[in-house]
Amino acid sequence: MSRTLPMTEPLPGQPDRVTIYEVGPRDGLQNEKSVVPTHVKAEFVRRLLAAGLDTVELTSFVPQKWVPQLGDAEELLDELGEIGTGRQRPVLVPNERGLDRALQRGVTSIAIFGSATETFARKNLNRSVEESLQMFAPVVKRALDAGAWVRAYVSMCFGDPWEGPVPVEQVVDVCSRLMDLGCDQLSIGDTIGVGTPGHVHWLLDALDDAGIGPEQSAVHFHDTYGQALANTMTAIGRGVRVVDASTGGLGGCPYAKSATGNLATEDLVWALDGLGIEHGADLDALVRTSTWMAEQLGRPAPSRVVRALAGG
Ligand code: HMG
Ligand code: MG
Repeated sequence: MSRTLPMTEPLPGQPDRVTIYEVGPRDGLQNEKSVVPTHVKAEFVRRLLAAGLDTVELTSFVPQKWVPQLGDAEELLDELGEIGTGRQRPVLVPNERGLDRALQRGVTSIAIFGSATETFARKNLNRSVEESLQMFAPVVKRALDAGAWVRAYVSMCFGDPWEGPVPVEQVVDVCSRLMDLGCDQLSIGDTIGVGTPGHVHWLLDALDDAGIGPEQSAVHFHDTYGQALANTMTAIGRGVRVVDASTGGLGGCPYAKSATGNLATEDLVWALDGLGIEHGADLDALVRTSTWMAEQLGRPAPSRVVRALAGG
């Protein structure tokens, strides 16, 4: 029987289209206990592209000892060949060594990743916020000189497991300093999923006041407290047009144990389909991909929509 739901009921004030920035192969797999074989990762990427997603973050060029799950970045890009390169295949790069590795593989789209808090900067980057900005500056400059596109993630924008609430001014300060390096896009990260819609609204307002408008921003919500979709829809209502999600709802950060899965791409697509907002992805193909990936990982996908559609 073909699927007839959700019904499409547009709301005023919503955009015609948003871009889904898929982070499943990177954020989704970086926190898995077992290392997923390279050929399975490559197949995951192929299936995501076949499902109509056009922006897929592939991996990270970090030291293997920091993130063993993504220690095969070169091998993955080699295995993907042409479909693994181009503006819509970003990779995470923390430092110049990571940039050299990425450029050698023909990467033309990178993401640096800063922190709004000192504690997470130390845990995730082994540096203070200030030192990490110094680490990123030459990376961004060299990447832009090489013609690459650069995204700047900022983690812990809504709360930090060690420091608690994070003042909006502190978040805006780090975001501004990263964007001042010349980055093309900011991704506002709720690493531990504690944000709520009002907080999203006011943070976007404060960023706008600081000269970082919603057209330059993306949102990256983890779903620890079940708020990721509400937060994402709030951001879309405030003009954000690039939204991060992870097929199946996989995800987490090895350096913030309270970080659980990302907003599931399927849950996002269900909401966008219901509103008639275009995104290019095929929900049934995504659900089949998550079901296949769940078999590889040996556990069910966290996504509610996957459970409803695959289990029904
Ligand atoms: P460090 O240990 O301070 O680095 O780590 P170092 O510069 O002192 O170098 C130590 C060794 O690593 C040296 O080798 C370097 O050559 C090597 P040795 O001389 O000891 O043999 N090295 C490298 N090797 C390969 N590739 C590299 C590289 N760099 C150095 N790129 C570092 C500092 C920043 C590298 C480390 O802290 C790191 O990689 N951290 C990343 C951790 C990470 O990937 N976390 C998850 C991603 S962030 C995230 O998930 C949040 C996000 O989703 C948004 C959100 O949810 O909020 C983006
Ligand atoms: Mg994340």
